[in-house]
Amino acid sequence: MSLPYLPADVMERADWFVRDRLGMFIHWGLYAIPAVGEWVLKFSGLPYEEYRAFAKRFNPVQFDARQWVRIAQDAGMKYMVFTTKHHDGFCMFDNPHTEWKITRTPFGRDVTAELAEACHAAGMKLGFYHSLIDWMHPQYAICDNHPLWGDAKARAEKREHGQYIEYLHNSVRHLLTHYGQVDVLWLDFTPPMKTSEDWGAGELMAMVRKLMPKVLVNDRLDRHSGGNEAPKFPNDLSLAEQVLPSGPMTLQGRRRVWEACVTMNEHWGYAAADRSFKPTRALVRMLARCVGNGGNLLLNVGPDALGRIPKESVERLQQMGAWLGDQGQAIYGAGQEEELTPPPGCIYTRQGRRLFLHVLEWPYMWIRLPGLQGKLKFASLLRDGSKVGTIDWASTGQDVTLALPFDEPDGLDTVIELELG
Ligand code: GLC
Repeated sequence: MSLPYLPADVMERADWFVRDRLGMFIHWGLYAIPAVGEWVLKFSGLPYEEYRAFAKRFNPVQFDARQWVRIAQDAGMKYMVFTTKHHDGFCMFDNPHTEWKITRTPFGRDVTAELAEACHAAGMKLGFYHSLIDWMHPQYAICDNHPLWGDAKARAEKREHGQYIEYLHNSVRHLLTHYGQVDVLWLDFTPPMKTSEDWGAGELMAMVRKLMPKVLVNDRLDRHSGGNEAPKFPNDLSLAEQVLPSGPMTLQGRRRVWEACVTMNEHWGYAAADRSFKPTRALVRMLARCVGNGGNLLLNVGPDALGRIPKESVERLQQMGAWLGDQGQAIYGAGQEEELTPPPGCIYTRQGRRLFLHVLEWPYMWIRLPGLQGKLKFASLLRDGSKVGTIDWASTGQDVTLALPFDEPDGLDTVIELELG
Protein backbone atom coordinates (compact mmCIF):
# COMPACT_ATOMS: atom_id res chain seq x y z
CA MET A 1 0.00 0.00 0.00
CA SER A 2 1.66 3.16 -1.12
CA LEU A 3 -0.32 6.11 0.15
CA PRO A 4 0.71 9.74 0.04
CA TYR A 5 1.70 11.31 3.32
CA LEU A 6 0.14 14.34 4.89
CA PRO A 7 1.54 17.73 3.85
CA ALA A 8 5.22 18.48 3.34
CA ASP A 9 5.45 20.72 6.40
CA VAL A 10 4.36 17.81 8.59
CA MET A 11 6.98 15.55 7.06
CA GLU A 12 9.62 18.20 7.55
CA ARG A 13 8.79 18.65 11.23
CA ALA A 14 8.58 14.90 11.70
CA ASP A 15 11.86 14.07 10.00
CA TRP A 16 13.63 13.14 13.27
CA PHE A 17 10.54 11.53 14.71
CA VAL A 18 10.07 8.94 11.98
CA ARG A 19 13.70 7.90 12.37
CA ASP A 20 13.97 7.86 16.16
CA ARG A 21 11.07 5.48 16.71
CA LEU A 22 11.18 5.02 20.47
CA GLY A 23 10.35 7.49 23.20
CA MET A 24 9.73 7.55 26.93
CA PHE A 25 6.40 8.78 28.24
CA ILE A 26 6.58 9.99 31.83
CA HIS A 27 3.43 10.40 33.92
CA TRP A 28 4.51 12.09 37.10
CA GLY A 29 2.69 14.38 39.45
CA LEU A 30 1.11 14.67 42.91
CA TYR A 31 -0.88 11.53 42.15
CA ALA A 32 2.28 9.56 42.87
CA ILE A 33 1.47 10.07 46.58
CA PRO A 34 -1.93 8.29 46.71
CA ALA A 35 -0.25 5.90 44.25
CA VAL A 36 -3.28 4.49 42.46
CA GLY A 37 -2.83 6.22 39.11
CA GLU A 38 -3.45 9.74 37.79
CA TRP A 39 -7.25 9.49 37.84
CA VAL A 40 -7.42 9.18 41.63
CA LEU A 41 -9.31 12.44 42.13
CA LYS A 42 -12.10 11.34 39.82
CA PHE A 43 -12.37 7.70 40.77
CA SER A 44 -11.56 7.34 44.45
CA GLY A 45 -13.97 9.82 45.97
CA LEU A 46 -10.97 11.53 47.56
CA PRO A 47 -12.04 14.99 48.74
CA TYR A 48 -10.39 17.92 46.99
CA GLU A 49 -8.99 19.16 50.28
CA GLU A 50 -7.07 15.95 50.83
CA TYR A 51 -5.71 16.05 47.32
CA ARG A 52 -4.69 19.67 47.68
CA ALA A 53 -2.83 18.81 50.88
CA PHE A 54 -0.52 16.48 48.95
CA ALA A 55 1.15 19.59 47.56
CA LYS A 56 2.27 20.43 51.09
CA ARG A 57 4.18 17.20 51.35
CA PHE A 58 5.42 16.57 47.82
CA ASN A 59 9.15 16.24 48.21
CA PRO A 60 10.69 13.83 45.69
CA VAL A 61 14.21 14.09 47.05
CA GLN A 62 15.49 11.33 44.80
CA PHE A 63 14.48 13.06 41.59
CA ASP A 64 17.45 13.37 39.27
CA ALA A 65 16.67 14.59 35.77
CA ARG A 66 20.01 13.47 34.39
CA GLN A 67 19.46 9.99 35.72
CA TRP A 68 16.05 9.76 34.04
CA VAL A 69 17.58 10.86 30.78
CA ARG A 70 20.36 8.29 31.20
CA ILE A 71 17.83 5.52 31.85
CA ALA A 72 15.96 6.52 28.71
CA GLN A 73 19.13 6.72 26.65
CA ASP A 74 20.37 3.36 27.88
CA ALA A 75 17.03 1.95 26.79
CA GLY A 76 17.63 3.28 23.29
CA MET A 77 14.97 5.94 23.66
CA LYS A 78 15.47 9.10 21.66
CA TYR A 79 12.77 11.37 23.03
CA MET A 80 10.80 12.00 26.18
CA VAL A 81 7.29 13.26 26.74
CA PHE A 82 6.75 14.61 30.24
CA THR A 83 3.47 15.50 31.95
CA THR A 84 3.85 19.21 32.59
CA LYS A 85 0.24 19.15 33.83
CA HIS A 86 -2.23 16.28 34.05
CA HIS A 87 -6.01 16.45 34.53
CA ASP A 88 -5.53 17.35 38.21
CA GLY A 89 -4.24 20.69 36.95
CA PHE A 90 -1.09 20.49 39.08
CA CYS A 91 1.75 22.13 37.17
CA MET A 92 5.06 20.34 37.24
CA PHE A 93 6.69 23.57 36.10
CA ASP A 94 6.97 27.05 37.55
CA ASN A 95 3.86 28.35 35.86
CA PRO A 96 3.57 32.07 36.72
CA HIS A 97 -0.19 31.92 36.12
CA THR A 98 -1.03 29.67 39.07
CA GLU A 99 -0.01 28.76 42.60
CA TRP A 100 -1.02 25.13 42.06
CA LYS A 101 2.45 24.01 41.04
CA ILE A 102 5.55 22.15 42.05
CA THR A 103 7.50 25.27 42.99
CA ARG A 104 5.00 25.77 45.86
CA THR A 105 5.78 22.37 47.40
CA PRO A 106 8.54 21.57 49.92
CA PHE A 107 10.57 20.38 46.93
CA GLY A 108 10.33 23.79 45.32
CA ARG A 109 12.20 22.94 42.14
CA ASP A 110 11.03 23.34 38.55
CA VAL A 111 11.44 19.71 37.49
CA THR A 112 10.37 20.50 33.93
CA ALA A 113 13.25 22.96 33.65
CA GLU A 114 15.66 20.38 35.03
CA LEU A 115 14.41 17.74 32.62
CA ALA A 116 14.57 20.15 29.69
CA GLU A 117 18.13 21.03 30.55
CA ALA A 118 19.15 17.38 30.95
CA CYS A 119 17.49 16.49 27.63
CA HIS A 120 19.10 19.34 25.76
CA ALA A 121 22.52 18.49 27.21
CA ALA A 122 22.18 14.84 26.22
CA GLY A 123 20.69 15.34 22.76
CA MET A 124 17.41 13.78 23.88
CA LYS A 125 14.40 15.25 22.14
CA LEU A 126 11.87 16.80 24.49
CA GLY A 127 8.09 16.59 24.52
CA PHE A 128 5.59 18.28 26.78
CA TYR A 129 2.37 16.52 27.63
CA HIS A 130 -0.16 19.13 28.71
CA SER A 131 -3.70 18.35 29.79
CA LEU A 132 -6.47 20.40 28.24
CA ILE A 133 -8.76 19.15 30.97
CA ASP A 134 -8.23 20.82 34.32
CA TRP A 135 -10.03 19.60 37.43
CA MET A 136 -8.59 22.25 39.70
CA HIS A 137 -9.03 25.48 37.78
CA PRO A 138 -11.99 27.33 39.34
CA GLN A 139 -13.36 28.48 35.98
CA TYR A 140 -13.02 25.22 34.07
CA ALA A 141 -16.53 24.21 33.00
CA ILE A 142 -17.49 21.03 34.81
CA CYS A 143 -18.16 18.17 32.45
CA ASP A 144 -18.86 14.52 33.07
CA ASN A 145 -15.24 13.45 33.33
CA HIS A 146 -14.81 16.01 36.12
CA PRO A 147 -14.62 14.78 39.73
CA LEU A 148 -17.24 17.37 40.73
CA TRP A 149 -19.76 16.21 38.12
CA GLY A 150 -21.77 14.41 40.81
CA ASP A 151 -21.84 17.47 43.06
CA ALA A 152 -25.03 19.41 42.26
CA LYS A 153 -23.84 22.51 44.11
CA ALA A 154 -20.57 22.68 42.21
CA ARG A 155 -22.37 22.10 38.94
CA ALA A 156 -24.76 24.94 39.61
CA GLU A 157 -21.87 27.39 40.06
CA LYS A 158 -21.40 29.81 37.26
CA ARG A 159 -18.04 29.28 35.65
CA GLU A 160 -16.32 31.49 33.12
CA HIS A 161 -14.74 28.87 30.95
CA GLY A 162 -13.23 31.63 28.79
CA GLN A 163 -10.97 32.48 31.69
CA TYR A 164 -9.76 28.93 31.77
CA ILE A 165 -9.01 29.06 28.04
CA GLU A 166 -6.93 32.14 28.63
CA TYR A 167 -5.07 30.39 31.44
CA LEU A 168 -4.49 27.35 29.22
CA HIS A 169 -3.06 29.48 26.42
CA ASN A 170 -0.87 31.42 28.84
CA SER A 171 0.44 28.19 30.32
CA VAL A 172 1.28 26.75 26.91
CA ARG A 173 2.90 30.02 25.93
CA HIS A 174 5.08 29.85 29.02
CA LEU A 175 6.06 26.27 28.23
CA LEU A 176 7.06 27.18 24.70
CA THR A 177 9.07 30.24 25.69
CA HIS A 178 11.03 29.25 28.82
CA TYR A 179 12.38 25.77 28.29
CA GLY A 180 14.35 25.99 25.06
CA GLN A 181 13.46 23.85 22.08
CA VAL A 182 10.39 21.68 22.57
CA ASP A 183 10.03 18.92 20.01
CA VAL A 184 6.57 17.55 20.76
CA LEU A 185 3.49 19.18 22.22
CA TRP A 186 1.35 16.34 23.45
CA LEU A 187 -2.07 17.73 24.30
CA ASP A 188 -4.56 15.49 26.00
CA PHE A 189 -8.17 15.26 26.69
CA THR A 190 -10.02 12.15 27.66
CA PRO A 191 -13.59 11.77 26.49
CA PRO A 192 -16.42 12.34 27.04
CA MET A 193 -15.96 16.06 26.67
CA LYS A 194 -19.01 17.98 27.72
CA THR A 195 -17.60 21.41 28.26
CA SER A 196 -19.75 24.08 26.73
CA GLU A 197 -16.74 25.66 25.05
CA ASP A 198 -13.75 24.25 23.27
CA TRP A 199 -10.13 24.97 24.03
CA GLY A 200 -9.82 28.06 21.88
CA ALA A 201 -8.07 25.61 19.62
CA GLY A 202 -7.70 27.82 16.56
CA GLU A 203 -5.85 30.55 18.45
CA LEU A 204 -3.94 28.01 20.45
CA MET A 205 -2.60 26.32 17.31
CA ALA A 206 -1.77 29.66 15.69
CA MET A 207 0.21 30.63 18.78
CA VAL A 208 2.01 27.29 18.92
CA ARG A 209 2.99 27.46 15.26
CA LYS A 210 4.26 30.99 15.69
CA LEU A 211 6.25 30.37 18.87
CA MET A 212 7.69 27.00 17.94
CA PRO A 213 7.34 26.27 14.23
CA LYS A 214 9.10 22.93 14.49
CA VAL A 215 7.16 21.41 17.37
CA LEU A 216 5.09 18.35 16.49
CA VAL A 217 1.53 18.57 17.77
CA ASN A 218 -0.62 15.49 18.37
CA ASP A 219 -4.20 14.99 17.31
CA ARG A 220 -6.10 15.51 20.56
CA LEU A 221 -7.12 19.12 20.23
CA ASP A 222 -10.50 18.50 18.78
CA ARG A 223 -11.23 14.95 19.82
CA HIS A 224 -9.66 11.88 21.30
CA SER A 225 -7.44 10.06 18.83
CA GLY A 226 -9.05 8.01 16.12
CA GLY A 227 -11.82 8.33 13.58
CA ASN A 228 -11.47 9.33 9.98
CA GLU A 229 -13.02 12.81 9.95
CA ALA A 230 -10.77 15.68 8.94
CA PRO A 231 -9.48 17.39 12.08
CA LYS A 232 -10.71 20.96 12.53
CA PHE A 233 -7.22 21.99 13.51
CA PRO A 234 -4.54 20.37 11.36
CA ASN A 235 -2.00 18.49 13.46
CA ASP A 236 1.09 16.39 12.91
CA LEU A 237 0.70 13.23 14.82
CA SER A 238 -1.91 10.47 15.04
CA LEU A 239 -2.05 8.41 18.19
CA ALA A 240 -2.96 4.92 19.11
CA GLU A 241 -3.45 4.29 22.81
CA GLN A 242 -2.86 0.90 24.41
CA VAL A 243 -3.59 -0.91 21.14
CA LEU A 244 -1.37 -1.17 18.13
CA PRO A 245 -2.95 -0.41 14.77
CA SER A 246 -3.09 -3.33 12.37
CA GLY A 247 -1.50 -1.32 9.57
CA PRO A 248 -0.03 2.11 8.86
CA MET A 249 -2.33 4.78 10.32
CA THR A 250 -4.18 6.84 7.77
CA LEU A 251 -6.59 9.72 7.70
CA GLN A 252 -8.84 10.34 4.75
CA GLY A 253 -6.71 8.26 2.42
CA ARG A 254 -3.39 9.79 3.41
CA ARG A 255 -0.71 8.25 5.51
CA ARG A 256 -0.07 9.74 8.91
CA VAL A 257 2.93 10.10 11.11
CA TRP A 258 1.89 8.11 14.16
CA GLU A 259 2.80 6.87 17.58
CA ALA A 260 1.34 4.24 19.89
CA CYS A 261 1.44 5.14 23.58
CA VAL A 262 1.51 2.17 25.86
CA THR A 263 1.87 1.57 29.59
CA MET A 264 4.36 -0.92 31.01
CA ASN A 265 1.92 -2.10 33.66
CA GLU A 266 -1.77 -1.22 33.89
CA HIS A 267 -1.46 2.42 34.90
CA TRP A 268 0.09 5.59 33.54
CA GLY A 269 0.77 7.28 36.86
CA TYR A 270 2.55 5.45 39.69
CA ALA A 271 0.40 2.68 41.16
CA ALA A 272 2.11 0.98 44.08
CA ALA A 273 0.07 -2.22 43.96
CA ASP A 274 0.18 -2.70 40.21
CA ARG A 275 2.65 -5.47 39.58
CA SER A 276 1.37 -6.43 36.14
CA PHE A 277 4.41 -5.45 34.14
CA LYS A 278 4.58 -6.61 30.56
CA PRO A 279 7.48 -8.89 29.73
CA THR A 280 10.36 -7.27 27.85
CA ARG A 281 9.71 -9.62 24.97
CA ALA A 282 6.23 -8.10 24.52
CA LEU A 283 7.65 -4.58 24.68
CA VAL A 284 10.34 -5.24 22.08
CA ARG A 285 7.81 -6.86 19.79
CA MET A 286 5.41 -3.95 20.19
CA LEU A 287 8.19 -1.67 19.08
CA ALA A 288 8.94 -3.87 16.07
CA ARG A 289 5.25 -3.99 15.17
CA CYS A 290 4.99 -0.21 15.36
CA VAL A 291 7.99 0.28 13.09
CA GLY A 292 6.71 -2.43 10.75
CA ASN A 293 3.67 -0.25 10.24
CA GLY A 294 5.65 2.95 9.95
CA GLY A 295 5.02 4.20 13.49
CA ASN A 296 6.67 4.92 16.83
CA LEU A 297 6.32 3.53 20.33
CA LEU A 298 6.00 5.88 23.28
CA LEU A 299 6.49 3.67 26.29
CA ASN A 300 5.34 4.94 29.66
CA VAL A 301 6.93 4.99 33.08
CA GLY A 302 5.27 6.29 36.26
CA PRO A 303 7.88 7.49 38.75
CA ASP A 304 7.03 7.29 42.46
CA ALA A 305 6.59 10.07 45.01
CA LEU A 306 10.31 10.10 45.75
CA GLY A 307 11.15 10.64 42.10
CA ARG A 308 12.27 7.13 41.20
CA ILE A 309 11.33 5.25 38.05
CA PRO A 310 10.04 1.87 39.31
CA LYS A 311 12.71 -0.79 39.24
CA GLU A 312 10.50 -3.18 37.25
CA SER A 313 10.44 -0.56 34.51
CA VAL A 314 14.16 0.10 34.70
CA GLU A 315 14.95 -3.61 34.36
CA ARG A 316 12.82 -3.91 31.27
CA LEU A 317 14.25 -0.74 29.80
CA GLN A 318 17.78 -2.04 30.26
CA GLN A 319 16.87 -5.25 28.46
CA MET A 320 15.29 -3.33 25.64
CA GLY A 321 18.41 -1.20 25.41
CA ALA A 322 20.58 -4.29 25.13
CA TRP A 323 18.37 -5.68 22.37
CA LEU A 324 18.46 -2.38 20.52
CA GLY A 325 22.24 -2.31 20.92
CA ASP A 326 22.38 -5.57 18.99
CA GLN A 327 19.54 -5.19 16.56
CA GLY A 328 18.55 -1.54 16.59
CA GLN A 329 19.36 -1.18 12.91
CA ALA A 330 16.05 -2.88 12.26
CA ILE A 331 14.31 -0.08 14.20
CA TYR A 332 16.01 3.31 13.91
CA GLY A 333 15.56 4.85 10.51
CA ALA A 334 13.52 1.85 9.45
CA GLY A 335 9.88 1.80 8.42
CA GLN A 336 7.31 -0.35 6.75
CA GLU A 337 7.89 -2.69 3.85
CA GLU A 338 5.50 -1.62 1.11
CA GLU A 339 5.14 -4.70 -1.04
CA LEU A 340 6.44 -7.97 0.30
CA THR A 341 4.31 -10.06 2.61
CA PRO A 342 6.14 -11.58 5.56
CA PRO A 343 5.77 -15.28 6.37
CA PRO A 344 3.19 -16.11 9.07
CA GLY A 345 4.35 -15.20 12.57
CA CYS A 346 6.87 -12.66 11.24
CA ILE A 347 7.00 -8.97 10.48
CA TYR A 348 9.16 -6.91 8.20
CA THR A 349 10.81 -3.58 8.81
CA ARG A 350 12.75 -1.95 6.04
CA GLN A 351 15.44 0.60 5.45
CA GLY A 352 16.41 1.13 1.81
CA ARG A 353 17.73 -2.13 0.41
CA ARG A 354 17.89 -3.74 3.79
CA LEU A 355 14.88 -5.77 4.69
CA PHE A 356 14.61 -7.00 8.25
CA LEU A 357 12.70 -10.13 9.04
CA HIS A 358 11.57 -10.25 12.67
CA VAL A 359 10.83 -13.88 13.39
CA LEU A 360 8.31 -13.66 16.20
CA GLU A 361 7.25 -17.30 16.05
CA TRP A 362 10.44 -19.26 15.77
CA PRO A 363 9.75 -21.93 13.11
CA TYR A 364 12.71 -24.22 13.95
CA MET A 365 14.86 -24.89 10.92
CA TRP A 366 13.11 -23.65 7.82
CA ILE A 367 11.20 -20.60 6.84
CA ARG A 368 9.77 -19.72 3.44
CA LEU A 369 9.83 -16.12 2.32
CA PRO A 370 7.22 -15.25 -0.30
CA GLY A 371 8.24 -13.26 -3.36
CA LEU A 372 11.98 -13.09 -2.72
CA GLN A 373 13.17 -15.38 -5.51
CA GLY A 374 15.80 -13.59 -7.58
CA LYS A 375 15.85 -10.66 -5.16
CA LEU A 376 17.72 -11.96 -2.14
CA LYS A 377 21.48 -11.43 -2.24
CA PHE A 378 22.44 -12.42 1.25
CA ALA A 379 20.76 -13.36 4.52
CA SER A 380 22.35 -13.07 7.96
CA LEU A 381 21.50 -12.81 11.62
CA LEU A 382 21.50 -9.12 12.43
CA ARG A 383 22.89 -9.69 15.93
CA ASP A 384 26.17 -11.27 14.85
CA GLY A 385 26.36 -11.12 11.06
CA SER A 386 26.42 -14.90 10.69
CA LYS A 387 25.20 -16.19 7.38
CA VAL A 388 21.79 -17.79 7.10
CA GLY A 389 21.81 -20.23 4.20
CA THR A 390 19.11 -20.82 1.64
CA ILE A 391 17.82 -24.22 0.62
CA ASP A 392 17.49 -23.92 -3.07
CA TRP A 393 15.73 -27.20 -3.77
CA ALA A 394 13.06 -26.32 -1.20
CA SER A 395 12.45 -22.90 -2.67
CA THR A 396 9.42 -22.93 -4.89
CA GLY A 397 8.03 -20.47 -7.41
CA GLN A 398 8.70 -16.97 -6.19
CA ASP A 399 9.64 -18.07 -2.71
CA VAL A 400 12.99 -18.53 -1.03
CA THR A 401 13.53 -20.96 1.83
CA LEU A 402 15.99 -20.13 4.59
CA ALA A 403 17.64 -22.63 6.89
CA LEU A 404 17.52 -21.21 10.41
CA PRO A 405 19.41 -22.39 13.45
CA PHE A 406 17.29 -24.78 15.49
CA ASP A 407 17.44 -22.77 18.70
CA GLU A 408 16.00 -19.29 18.73
CA PRO A 409 19.04 -17.01 18.96
CA ASP A 410 17.22 -14.15 20.71
CA GLY A 411 14.10 -14.80 22.72
CA LEU A 412 13.10 -11.12 22.57
CA ASP A 413 13.00 -10.90 18.78
CA THR A 414 15.47 -12.46 16.36
CA VAL A 415 16.04 -10.36 13.28
CA ILE A 416 17.35 -11.70 10.01
CA GLU A 417 18.74 -9.14 7.68
CA LEU A 418 17.85 -9.73 4.06
CA GLU A 419 20.00 -7.86 1.64
CA LEU A 420 18.12 -7.30 -1.56
CA GLY A 421 19.66 -6.91 -5.00
C1 GLC B 1 -5.61 8.00 28.92
C2 GLC B 1 -5.62 8.31 30.39
C3 GLC B 1 -4.81 9.54 30.71
C4 GLC B 1 -3.43 9.40 30.10
C5 GLC B 1 -3.57 9.18 28.61
C6 GLC B 1 -2.30 9.00 27.85
O1 GLC B 1 -6.39 8.87 28.16
O2 GLC B 1 -6.94 8.48 30.82
O3 GLC B 1 -4.74 9.72 32.07
O4 GLC B 1 -2.68 10.54 30.34
O5 GLC B 1 -4.31 8.01 28.42
O6 GLC B 1 -2.65 8.82 26.51
